[in-house]
Amino acid sequence: MWQLFSRRQQQKSIFIVIFGLFITSLIGFFLLIKILNSDDIKTVYLTSFKSSLSRCHCSKSSLIIFNHGECFFDQPVCYPGFIGDQCEIKLKNETYRSHCPIDTHKIQWTRSLIKQTKKKCLQSKYAQQEWNISCIFLCFYHRLTGITQIPSIFWHKSLNNELDYWKENPMIIDDRLQEHVEGFYGYKIIPLKINSIVEIGAGPFTQVQYLLTPFRLIKQITLIEPNALNYMKLNNCAYRGGYLRGYPISIIAESIEIIMKNRRQEKSFLNSSKYYSALISINVIEHVNDALEYFRGLYDLLEDNGLLIFHERWFDYPQQGDCVLQNAEYLHPIRITKWIIDRFLNQFETLYINFNRTKRQIYSPCFEQGVYFIGRKKSNCV
Ligand SMILES: *[C@@H]1O[C@H](CO)[C@@H](O)[C@H](O)[C@H]1NC(C)=O
Ligand SMILES: *[C@@H]1O[C@H](CO)[C@@H](O)[C@H](O)[C@H]1NC(C)=O
Ligand SMILES: *[C@@H]1O[C@H](CO)[C@@H](O)[C@H](O)[C@H]1NC(C)=O
Ligand SMILES: *[C@@H]1O[C@H](CO)[C@@H](O)[C@H](O)[C@H]1NC(C)=O
Repeated sequence: MWQLFSRRQQQKSIFIVIFGLFITSLIGFFLLIKILNSDDIKTVYLTSFKSSLSRCHCSKSSLIIFNHGECFFDQPVCYPGFIGDQCEIKLKNETYRSHCPIDTHKIQWTRSLIKQTKKKCLQSKYAQQEWNISCIFLCFYHRLTGITQIPSIFWHKSLNNELDYWKENPMIIDDRLQEHVEGFYGYKIIPLKINSIVEIGAGPFTQVQYLLTPFRLIKQITLIEPNALNYMKLNNCAYRGGYLRGYPISIIAESIEIIMKNRRQEKSFLNSSKYYSALISINVIEHVNDALEYFRGLYDLLEDNGLLIFHERWFDYPQQGDCVLQNAEYLHPIRITKWIIDRFLNQFETLYINFNRTKRQIYSPCFEQGVYFIGRKKSNCV
């Protein structure tokens, strides 16, 4: 009798423990789904994903970091040297990365670490075979995505070199404006009335200037360009006095990465951020610090159904970019694959898409491939 009672007691407590575990994991699961589905952009750090469901579903412009990767819209993107749905598998066969730290994201890239790593890669025959002029950038390279993120120390250097480049070329008055007009087929499908437009990575000349004609009504024009204040000191800058072709403009002299960081903080204080009805960004990716944040930023700045006007090139492997982009370390370190562009454009309804080479590209000695895209932001999750 006593034994029977005890066994029943035991069964009961086991049941309570199991039930408790079940409830806890259920709550955890629903919290995760709630985070991923919420419209707010935010930063979430997860030590690991427990559920086997599609984990990055609807991560949109939130920054969700886990194991050795982060969400990029609906897909996990692993950091260099890692693969797997949870970015938990360490690649052992990529010998050309043997001079690199294991997770390039988890360490602080100082000048001395860069120097050390460079020395190692200059001695590594694998690295030399792969990319003899920029072997250190193999540390930031992933086969699936390309070079999407670099330590900010490299970014600041490229930004300064970019400024010097324009200083040394005072006769240039635009950055391949006509080539992009050709790629977009004269921007013929862009509506004549636009409430607000923002250009990301405007450079000294902007691309939006082509859309500013007397026939088109654009109420508000904003330029986002980290070098803007320096560019405005140049004689050939198109928005030198705060006007672009006679139209007043707002200037935000910040990088898109910093803007996203601020927006995430603001939103956590329930401050509403600004959304634009149209966004233009043309050939900017090679100038950014973090391509994944750049794309999440483009997405987040647009209102639902907002109009995206976008052009970018991709490279199947980073060395392919050297011909047109030159030395990675000097000006243009980021080289993305088509996979990244496809994931991003999947968030938009296509209105215009053009993969054809421009006249310049056809006659160029360099191999270039890219896409001209105009589309509307989908409000639903994909
Ligand atoms: C390296 O190993 C991973 C799995 O561990 C495999 O998927 C990949 O194809 C391998 N790469 C090469 C170049 O052998
Ligand atoms: C790097 O390799 C390419 C071909 O693989 C070669 O043409 C070039 O001269 C090499 N550069 C250096 C600095 O070794
Ligand atoms: C909300 O945002 C505006 C403009 O971005 C800023 O001026 C203001 O200080 C913010 N308010 C709070 C409470 O953070
Ligand atoms: C691309 O080129 C082909 C062949 O010249 C042409 O038929 C097509 O219309 C072009 N596409 C666009 C979007 O301009």
